[in-house]
Amino acid sequence: PVQNGLNLRSPICCIMGHVDAGKTKLLDCIRGTRVQEGEAGGITQQIGATYFPAENIRERTKELKANAKLNVPGLLVIDTPGHKSFTNLRSRGSSLCDIAVLVVDIMHGLEPQTIESLNFLKKGNTNFVIALNKVDRLYGWKTCRNAPIGKAIGQQSKDVMMEFNTRLTQIITQFKEQGLNTELYYKNKEMGDTYNIVPTSAISGEGIPDLLLLLVQWAPKTMIKRLTCSEKLQCTVLEVKVVEGHGTTIDVVLVNGMLHEGDRIVVCGMQGPVVTSIRALLTPHPMRELRVKGTYLHHKEIKVVQGIKIAAQGLQHAIAGTSLYVVGPNDDIEYIKESAMDDVNSVISRIDKSDEGVYVQASTLGSLEALLEFLNTRAVDVPVSDNLEEERKREAVEEAVFPCVLKIIPKYVFNTKDPIVLGVDVVEGIAKIGTPICVPGQKFVEIGRISSIIN
Ligand code: GTP
Ligand code: NA
Ligand code: MG
Repeated sequence: PVQNGLNLRSPICCIMGHVDAGKTKLLDCIRGTRVQEGEAGGITQQIGATYFPAENIRERTKELKANAKLNVPGLLVIDTPGHKSFTNLRSRGSSLCDIAVLVVDIMHGLEPQTIESLNFLKKGNTNFVIALNKVDRLYGWKTCRNAPIGKAIGQQSKDVMMEFNTRLTQIITQFKEQGLNTELYYKNKEMGDTYNIVPTSAISGEGIPDLLLLLVQWAPKTMIKRLTCSEKLQCTVLEVKVVEGHGTTIDVVLVNGMLHEGDRIVVCGMQGPVVTSIRALLTPHPMRELRVKGTYLHHKEIKVVQGIKIAAQGLQHAIAGTSLYVVGPNDDIEYIKESAMDDVNSVISRIDKSDEGVYVQASTLGSLEALLEFLNTRAVDVPVSDNLEEERKREAVEEAVFPCVLKIIPKYVFNTKDPIVLGVDVVEGIAKIGTPICVPGQKFVEIGRISSIIN
């Protein structure tokens, strides 16, 4: 859509920060949803995507600024996990985004994954806003539901403001220690050099109008060139998952270009490139989360920025975190297949392989990286092999002897107090290896030390 003579796409905004800073809750507050309450352990374990159309943002910000002029069709927001095990997902999210929101819990200040996220943003030269979240937890805070932050702050007592200012000053100092100047956004005279802080509450909604307006007005101003729509397809696979009625699907973010039902596509797969055709192009409703089961809208074609679910045959071996390609009428398919495998080949080539070892399969590039790194370089030093034949793989599983096959689809890689715990989907044979501990009521099994499995 052409607006004000500019043909800008929606900015992609990534929400980052330490575990439990309130990233998902902030999105719930904007969407009017309760995604966070449905998460296992209240912990985000996947990348999510939600599309906010400009008209919804205008509605949400009208108290702060009536009829705000927005030069973009909307905003695509990517939610990421803050737990330390998901470094690869944070990296994937941050590499995709045009801007970011770094969420900091006002009661905790900067925490390890705040700093890690900050470093990703610095590395990618990504502009960001700081949401100083959970202001409602300041002792004596008076709720002003969904109010602009200036108005909410105007209602607070001296004591609340004293605590607010003390905590704010400490956090500004912590950012300075990381080499960054930061300031409350409405006091910030040096936009660009000094990063903006927006105090928010994801529970009562104070500051949400400010955060939204800042994102949609300021991003397009500072990155016209980057946000100008281009024809060239740019599309990244976020997640691979089975959806009832659709088989294995991939969740993708379409950054530029167009996708059509029936398009011939190529994605990177565990056993080589996957060439298939788009059977269905699905999106959640606007303001709904892509990663949450729900009803989907079917599309014949999709342009501009969107989080999309693609159903097609043969996607079960697709690897998340890689690029999706469309085969055009004049394209050299062999060349596209090679390009599609570049990402995973570069990961695999970094690993030392031996003749005998553990054969590893993972459903995402990030899990594969995390797993290979764990097996190969951490305390356990497990050899990794890529030359097991089908027959031997099966035998190995049945006999549960070294070298065995761990056909694991990591749900998460937790670094608990003692060993690393891999959450896995139970695939044939696995339960015989090592000493699995069942988690009641859940489909997957948590297996203790990997070293004890192969010893
Ligand atoms: P991960 O995705 O697991 O990294 O966490 P997150 O950053 O998405 O945090 P989440 O939304 O899961 O919130 C963590 C906890 O903090 C939940 O219990 C929320 O209810 C609570 N919480 C989040 N935001 C606020 C807030 O603004 N005020 C208060 N009082 N609690 C909040
Ligand atoms: Na959480
Ligand atoms: Mg979350």
